[in-house]
Amino acid sequence: MTTVFVLNGPNLNMLGKREPAIYGTGTLDDIAADCRSAAETLGLEIDFRQSNHEGDLVGWIQEAGDKAQGVVLNAGAYTHTSIAIHDAIRSAAPLPVVEVHLSNIHAREEFRHTSLVAPHAVGMICGFGPLGYTLALQALAARI
Ligand code: DQA
Repeated sequence: MTTVFVLNGPNLNMLGKREPAIYGTGTLDDIAADCRSAAETLGLEIDFRQSNHEGDLVGWIQEAGDKAQGVVLNAGAYTHTSIAIHDAIRSAAPLPVVEVHLSNIHAREEFRHTSLVAPHAVGMICGFGPLGYTLALQALAARI
């Protein structure tokens, strides 16, 4: 079985309540359900997780290097700040990581335009809301 970790960073547990004009009204549980259904169609096993702590995300990327064939990563605000997550992705090479954002980070504040995930991701999907996770799983399945 091909296993994919779907990792979510800080404040994504607040989806549904958090800035609905930007992130919509769906919850992270709704996204997890979408991912499970996409994974079933694609023949993937997924492990869906969220943490508000940078070190958890680093540890999970390291763990994915041993246990998974790919990662879908929405690192939230750590996308723009975390050298530790950048290094974890490099260290897990050649593990493919697809970067996802619900919002179009390039159409928002300038501090969101830089991603420290992107240089070592196989690609980035942003601006399509929860659909981005399904698209990322499709992209990973095709690549794996
Ligand atoms: C986000 C975009 C980030 O800039 C922000 O900090 C988030 C969510 C997105 O999914 O659009 O927490 O990753």
